[in-house]
Amino acid sequence: MELAPESPWSEDVPPWELSDLGLLEALATTRTIRRFLPEPIPDRDVGRILWFASRAPSGSNRQPFQFLALQHGPRASEARTVLENAFQDRWAEESSRFGYTEAPASSRSARMEATMNRFVSSISRAPLIVLVATELASDEVLSATSGASVFPAVQNLLLAAHAFGYGGVISMWHDVVEEELHEILDIPDNVYLLATVVLGRPEGHHGPVRRAPLSQLVYADSWGSTPEWAVDPPGTRFSGGMKGPIG
Ligand SMILES: Cc1cc2nc3c(=O)[nH]c(=O)nc-3n(C[C@H](O)[C@H](O)[C@H](O)COP(=O)(O)O)c2cc1C
Repeated sequence: MELAPESPWSEDVPPWELSDLGLLEALATTRTIRRFLPEPIPDRDVGRILWFASRAPSGSNRQPFQFLALQHGPRASEARTVLENAFQDRWAEESSRFGYTEAPASSRSARMEATMNRFVSSISRAPLIVLVATELASDEVLSATSGASVFPAVQNLLLAAHAFGYGGVISMWHDVVEEELHEILDIPDNVYLLATVVLGRPEGHHGPVRRAPLSQLVYADSWGSTPEWAVDPPGTRFSGGMKGPIG
């Protein structure tokens, strides 16, 4: 079958050969990105990233995830403005609640505050926003199980974005404007938005992934018993987490 001219794919190159980034490197280095260069993500790459996202597993392979890419059409622009206002309000609330506003100059918290201020005021101009949705049958209610079959696809999306030179951030801050988004974007009543993913080409330097030491996260045989093999590789950078939840 002949490929359509706008297809993101080629007959000669399988999808997994489109990037040299190895799987394990991607798993170890994919950071949250909130600072973007002012470049759009070409449709070809949007198509590729969402195809990789759609390869994710789900309960009974029901694939209850759908993606609404907000590019720059009139309705997407309206939705972006609504999201930007919601994100700004939420960050204003969280930053003072968790003390980011009073962080000492040049501390990690102060850098986070600056990044977040810029991020939340640039949502309307972000290169791409993907709303990740799930459609429920009439006898289903939204639960942790609904999310469990959707978030593997969100992580695939972020990993694929990284492989193509982009980065992004997951947020749930659409929740207060979900009804408005339904109206603007014609989203049916039985479709729920589970994540907003903001994506673009990263701007500036982003350091290594920092997480808690493996020995604090892994037990073997019984809760609380740390196995000897729960060891991080040399060079691992650690973080016990920031002051309060961002998200
Ligand atoms: C479920 C979920 C919700 C999140 N919500 C937000 C959010 O609303 N705003 C935001 O800026 N970051 C959000 N994040 C990003 C986290 O803050 C980020 O992944 C974490 O701080 C680790 O950052 P790093 O990957 O750069 O180390 C969210 C992440 C997840 C997994």
